[in-house]
Amino acid sequence: MDHKRVAVLISGRGSNMAALIDAAKDKNYPAEIALVLSNRPEAGGLLVARAAKISTEIVDHVAFRNDRDAFERAVQAVLERYRIDIVCLAGFMRLLTGNFVEKWQGRMLNIHPALLPAFKGLDTHKRALDAGVSVHGATVHFVVPEMDSGPIIAQGVVGVLPGDTEEMLAARVLEVEHRIYPLALKLLAEGRVQIVGGQCLIDGAPVPPPAS
Ligand code: GRF
Repeated sequence: MDHKRVAVLISGRGSNMAALIDAAKDKNYPAEIALVLSNRPEAGGLLVARAAKISTEIVDHVAFRNDRDAFERAVQAVLERYRIDIVCLAGFMRLLTGNFVEKWQGRMLNIHPALLPAFKGLDTHKRALDAGVSVHGATVHFVVPEMDSGPIIAQGVVGVLPGDTEEMLAARVLEVEHRIYPLALKLLAEGRVQIVGGQCLIDGAPVPPPAS
């Protein structure tokens, strides 16, 4: 099988990264995690990746001060050096410019802890509780220049339960994240995803509703 070479970009603990690494251990999985790249040297996920014998690189944004273009050129150079086909953002806390995003158009995914287009941005679980929604969840989408937008490739749903705290809700959503991210990457790596009119088609059909 022609395995796609994937870079996972992280800034923190990297539990989604770990889920992708685990999924890719299966020889039938169509992608290999060829690189974990962090913009923060202290990101816990780097240790997890190294323990799993995955190559890691650090491109510390602090070293680039406010020069986003120079930071992104450095990231791009690393991705090219590793001959990366697909980029997965997984808790990567830097906004990327249109210039960089365009280079990876249709080949860069992100996971967001909410049912987009609801609750873009940060503190999604608190905002979901404050809004009194009864369903919440997570979304894997293609990255476009506008933050937390872009064609949706997979979503997973959790019910909001009476008495839920932010932490309880976050933990249940995280389980969903760990399930849908490997699934979405698999679909992309297998070439089963098309973007038509700003929406994803999977095997030529609209994205199916999440199994509940
Ligand atoms: C996840 O909730 C992800 O959806 C969001 O940032 C968090 C990262 O967690 N974008 P982890 O580093 O993958 O554990």
